[in-house]
This record gives sequence, structure tokens and C-alpha cells, in this order.
Amino acid sequence: MRAIGIVGSPRRNGNTEYLMNVALSILEREGIDSELIPLAGKEIKPCDGCLRCKKEIRCVIEGDDFEVIYRKMRETDGIILGSPVYFSSATPQLISLLDRAAYVSRQTREFFSGKIGGPIVVARRAGHNFTFAQLLLWFFINDMIIVGSSYWNVALAGSGGLRDIEKDTEAIETVRHFAYSMARLMKKVYS
Ligand SMILES: Cc1cc2nc3c(=O)[nH]c(=O)nc-3n(C[C@H](O)[C@H](O)[C@H](O)COP(=O)(O)O)c2cc1C
Repeated sequence: MRAIGIVGSPRRNGNTEYLMNVALSILEREGIDSELIPLAGKEIKPCDGCLRCKKEIRCVIEGDDFEVIYRKMRETDGIILGSPVYFSSATPQLISLLDRAAYVSRQTREFFSGKIGGPIVVARRAGHNFTFAQLLLWFFINDMIIVGSSYWNVALAGSGGLRDIEKDTEAIETVRHFAYSMARLMKKVYS
């Protein structure tokens, strides 16, 4: 059993990555191989709507980091998507990845069917629920199984510093609960 945590922040070691690591370390402890995939420092070009994936069943945009990450998304059993809120939205880096990954996978009719996961969202002050919903919609249309928790996986990161998140103990507890539920579900479905 494998899970990946994709972090859409362009900053390494930031708040979203911190919270993602909380989730991934619980999955690891529960016996699920977990990998952090930060998009920081990677280039993911946006979908250009060429629609060549309809014929070629792959994304033809080349010269960036899409293909490696897309392969990992296809091969894993669990996917957690983490994003900081950028003007009430997920980051453009993450959306570029999700647009292309979803459109290519739709051509195969395999989608990401049956994979288990959910979103984690961090903001300084507001816009969490828009971004959380935006990511939930992506999970849903890709025929995935979404895990709940004791609250939404949303966190406040105060002034925007790299580790402000540590003060939001309720969010950390919510994400821990989410990760335990995800592990429990993955073990039921996959073993
Ligand atoms: C371009 C940009 C837009 C942002 N928009 C919002 C916003 O709409 N609401 C909010 O509360 N914080 C906003 N923030 C703050 C980030 O969401 C916040 O600093 C977050 O902790 C960054 O996560 P990271 O440490 O994982 O990069 C924005 C930050 C940037 C750089």
C-alpha cells in the first residue's frame, strides 16, 4: 500500500508541507509507504487545451516535471492534496498538475478510480473553504474515495511565516484524525 502527499506551495518547509508531514508520518506509522511530493522548485506548465491527449492518451506538453508526478499519482493507492490558499484558490502550480492529470486520465476512462484521499488547506486568514471545496470537487470527479475527519482539514498560519502552523493545534489534531481514518480505510480496501 502506498500513499503520496502532493504539496502545492511554492515554498519548501512551509506550513502546508508541515501539515502534510503530520498526515504522512501517521500513514507511515500505520504501515503505509508514504512519499512527500513538494511542487516547490518544480515546473508544471498549465494545460493548453490542445486536446491531443484525446488521441494520444498522454499529455504531450514536454520539458517540465509533469510526467514523473503523474506516474506516481497513477501508481499510488492514496493521494492527499495540500495547498496554501492563494486568493481563495489553490496555487496555480497545483491546479496545473490537477488539470492535466485529470484530463489525461479521463481519456483512459480509468480516472483515479477507487484511490483514497482528501485535501489539506492552509491560509493566513480566509478562503479555506473555497479552496477545500475546489480540491474536493477534483477528488469527486476523478471517482475517488474521500476521507472525512473531525473537522475540515483547514489550518490558520498566522502571519504567513514558515512554521506559524504549529500554533494551530486544532488543525493538527484534525489532520491526525484524518490520517488515521485514511489508514484504516486503506487497510480495509486494499489488504
Ligand atoms: C499570492 C498569495 C495569495 C494569498 N492569498 C491568501 C488568501 O486569499 N487568504 C489567506 O488567508 N491567505 C492568503 N495567503 C497567505 C498564505 O495562504 C499563507 O501564508 C500560507 O501559510 C502559505 O502556506 P505555505 O507556508 O505552505 O507556503 C496568500 C499568500 C500569497 C503568497
